[in-house]
Amino acid sequence: MAFTVFILQLAVRILSLPMYLLNFLGLWDSICKKWFAYFLSKASVLYNQYMAGKKQELFSKLQDFAGPSRKLSLLEVGCGTGTNFKFYPPGCRVTCVDPNPNFEKFLFKSIAENRHLQFERFLVAAGENMHQVADSSVDVVVCTTVLCSVANQEQVLREVCRVLRPGGAFFFIEHVADKRSTWNYCWQQVVEPAWYLVFDGCNLTRESWKALERASFSKLKLQHIQAPLPCVLVRPHICGYAVK
Ligand SMILES: C[S@@+](CC[C@H](N)C(=O)[O-])C[C@H]1O[C@@H](n2cnc3c(N)ncnc32)[C@H](O)[C@@H]1O
Repeated sequence: MAFTVFILQLAVRILSLPMYLLNFLGLWDSICKKWFAYFLSKASVLYNQYMAGKKQELFSKLQDFAGPSRKLSLLEVGCGTGTNFKFYPPGCRVTCVDPNPNFEKFLFKSIAENRHLQFERFLVAAGENMHQVADSSVDVVVCTTVLCSVANQEQVLREVCRVLRPGGAFFFIEHVADKRSTWNYCWQQVVEPAWYLVFDGCNLTRESWKALERASFSKLKLQHIQAPLPCVLVRPHICGYAVK
């Protein structure tokens, strides 16, 4: 099986040669980041249609983590177009972090459409280094389909723990690797090299629950689900929250 995966992966790499060439010449990143912001402005609307129930269920727990003022302070890491804003409770103070500056115009459109929130700032930064956010300063951190793309999951989770106040929580919904015994896992491996380039560094075979289990949270509520999405490659998901 490993040999078949290797041959099919090779075929995918050969078909993706133009992208590899542009990447080698250092031209791919800026093209990809622009295209990806536009693509996500469309795709995240569809994703929300399929995942609305799951997001509503999970994000209904956000308010439980508000401090004594009852005004929730929330940091969204890898915010993209701000597709999660409509699920946040009224009055919530939102700070956003994303390394791709091309999201800004889509993000500001989402802010204008979500007047129930108090938007604070957009930081163009990676989750691995959020030094602009003070220690123990937020009630909750949210990540949706981000741990698949970050360069260093452990470092992002360390930063999440640093910025969360004691008793605060990290909420996540992430697509992950399927079970290793499945055909879907084989296809995830085959497609991954091209997928990674097309979708701005997204990995299909990350077992992100392992990084969450290793991180220094005091409590982890994590569910494995098959998301009701048309693309089978990204159906295996984990979702839940972890308390600092
Ligand atoms: C699939 S998109 C998801 C966007 C948004 N969270 C959503 O649910 O629509 C992945 C996002 O992670 C961001 N990202 C990639 N690497 C990152 C990193 N190291 N730190 C923080 N965000 C990152 C990308 O720029 C992109 O916005």
